[in-house]
Amino acid sequence: MELQGKTILILGGKTGLLGQALTEAFKNAGANPVPLSSKECDILEPLTIQKRLERHDPDMLINAAAYTQVDLAEDEEEMAFALNATAPPLLAAEAAKRSIPFIHYSTDFVFRGNKTTPYSVYDEVGAFSVYGISKAEGENNLHRLGYDQTLIIRLSWLFGPGRINFVEKILSLCETRESISVVNDQTGSPSYAPDVAANTLKLIEHDATGLYHLANSGETTWHGLASAAATIAEVDCAVEPVPSSAYPTKAVRPAYSVLDLSRFTQTTGETPRHWRDALKEYVLRYLKK
Ligand SMILES: NC(=O)c1ccc[n+]([C@@H]2O[C@H](COP(=O)([O-])OP(=O)(O)OC[C@H]3O[C@@H](n4cnc5c(N)ncnc54)[C@H](OP(=O)(O)O)[C@@H]3O)[C@@H](O)[C@H]2O)c1
Repeated sequence: MELQGKTILILGGKTGLLGQALTEAFKNAGANPVPLSSKECDILEPLTIQKRLERHDPDMLINAAAYTQVDLAEDEEEMAFALNATAPPLLAAEAAKRSIPFIHYSTDFVFRGNKTTPYSVYDEVGAFSVYGISKAEGENNLHRLGYDQTLIIRLSWLFGPGRINFVEKILSLCETRESISVVNDQTGSPSYAPDVAANTLKLIEHDATGLYHLANSGETTWHGLASAAATIAEVDCAVEPVPSSAYPTKAVRPAYSVLDLSRFTQTTGETPRHWRDALKEYVLRYLKK
């Protein structure tokens, strides 16, 4: 799809980490993004969604809204499933009524994490956490609905400007401490939100549908990501490695959830830049004091 002049409705676009990056990317591409907050358009309210679609008459519907609090989801299962599993097919059905493309985002947390090589789009899911299970059910519900203009993009370890995230938290801790401890036994693919947004646009330009993985290239642990951020920001703080058992969390996270990006590369002919390059841009542009 050519994006110039197109109206793109972005649910979760006002405050979401990814939604804000998408809004910016569509603006830069000459499109007319319409970002909406949950107050302006609650994805649990079908009538409000229909009214919004009538009012804006978009050329594409993007769902960047979700229940994203991984640990809290263990206590708020009903809300997590409503937002992550029930709402996506209702949104896709509205897009289908209008014959416009529907884009939805999912997560590496749908995987069990017992592999040692990157997860491809063909690998079986098997989440442990309520969040991961609810997101996997959302994907399944979209597959079951079978709307052929649906694009589902799994991301992982998102960071970037606009909303507090792991990298920002680490650097603000480093400002007041001589050392911090970060887990080094979970491995994944960091994703810089502006890169995910720009690469989403590349998929749209290629009329991609179906399931894709998107992240930056390379892999690391949370400790690796935190150490790299501290080095780039030149903070005087030691980043110590610790096992996950040192920080018990309510939700079980996959030990390994690196995403295989080859389908993105096959479709677009491009390879996302390495996470270290994206991190450097983020820290130097937005966080370094
Ligand atoms: N963050 C990560 O590390 C990560 C990793 C992998 C995949 N993902 C996936 O990527 C997508 C975007 O995640 P994100 O981190 O950008 O999310 P986020 O920053 O937590 O933002 C979530 C958005 O959802 C909106 N929202 C919540 N409830 C809503 C409702 N009832 N109706 C409408 N909007 C509602 C919020 O809007 P208001 O503030 O207006 O309520 C907010 O803008 C999600 O599908 C997520 O599962 C994220």
